[in-house]
Amino acid sequence: MQNILITGGAGFIGSNFVRYMLGKYPNYYLVVYDKLTYAGNLDNLRDVENNPRYRFVKGDICDAALVERTVTEHKIDTIINFAAETHVDRSIMDADAFIRTDVYGTYVLLEAAKKFGLRYHQVGTDEVYGAVLEGASKETDSLLPRSPYAASKASADLLIHSYIVTHKVAATITRGANNIGPYQYPEKAVPVFVTNAIDNFPLPLYGDGKQMRDYQFVLDHCEAIDLVAHQGKLGQVYNVGTGHETYNIDMARLVLKLLGKPESLIQHVPDRAGHDRRYSLDVNKLRALGWEPAHDFEEALSKTVKWYVENEWWWRKLKSGEYLEYYKKQYVERQ
Ligand code: NAD
Ligand code: DAU
Repeated sequence: MQNILITGGAGFIGSNFVRYMLGKYPNYYLVVYDKLTYAGNLDNLRDVENNPRYRFVKGDICDAALVERTVTEHKIDTIINFAAETHVDRSIMDADAFIRTDVYGTYVLLEAAKKFGLRYHQVGTDEVYGAVLEGASKETDSLLPRSPYAASKASADLLIHSYIVTHKVAATITRGANNIGPYQYPEKAVPVFVTNAIDNFPLPLYGDGKQMRDYQFVLDHCEAIDLVAHQGKLGQVYNVGTGHETYNIDMARLVLKLLGKPESLIQHVPDRAGHDRRYSLDVNKLRALGWEPAHDFEEALSKTVKWYVENEWWWRKLKSGEYLEYYKKQYVERQ
């Protein structure tokens, strides 16, 4: 593994991964391939743009010809796929782009992996298991996705499995729990809450706020992807999370406490359709590879809050135009 194609590398987790990998492996060459949708942002990679071991290609993972040209031009040996439509609420409004990118796009990348004999790693999600009211999901559990987003990611996982079995593609999958940290687009719960609280705007909490999520720090997730890409058993799936869940209402309260803002800013709003009450991952398989998250929930959230406080240049300009239209549809018109 030396010349890596990082698809979706201009998004939240992908850009954190690029920075982490450039720092960790002095002889790796990374090519970010990204369509720059509303969620892709070259500001996320500003501090590495002059690194001689980094290149950026603007492209769609559904464009097979450009994917192949990029693979051959840059002598790519590995694809790590972060590219996806990722926001559950948007998939409920309109699933079209989710099916195109998350399903068809994964197929295009798998075809390239098959044709050029590439190592392939898929950044997957715990949402494919569906709501888990008791216990914790193991990698061998059935996939029961309940939102169009989760279904598109589950479809990708199934396609990958078929290419592993039928075409002997050297692939692995990680299924991560909720990430938080720097450069997360302010549509996801934590950055919506933090940036709204900074401005003394309400924190829109869905339903009773008693849904549970395992919020993990993005760099812990990046380390896990690196570990599985290097040492994971080919053909295998690995869950990635801390194994500890938090109620959304407690997450909102802690955001407010960290910012010194009153709890009266919490505003209960109509629930998400089909909202998964809880996810929970059994992470023993990953632990057996030697991985432990370096941050617990409170550390992860306080680092995240601090980053948004110190980096208004990054998020304030994003909260305009398309974002405000989306915000109105999601939070005002749904009331
Ligand atoms: P994000 O929405 O911040 O970034 C997605 C990136 O993919 C953007 O840069 C976007 O421009 C790019 N992209 C979208 N469609 C594309 C296309 N057709 N071709 C090329 N690029 C395209 O997402 P994220 O939160 O960083 O998530 C990255 C991956 O991790 C996704 O596959 C997601 O399903 C998975 N994941 C996310 C989380 C989380 O909590 N955010 C948890 C587990 C897994
Ligand atoms: O679990 C991994 C998944 O985590 C990833 O695969 C997804 O790409 C990522 O978006 C995330 O999905 P969630 O739906 O869990 O994340 P989100 O930040 O949208 O919501 C977190 C929780 O907070 C969820 O229970 C819904 C709730 N919520 C969300 C928003 C946006 C609110 O209460 N209010 C909100 O405004």
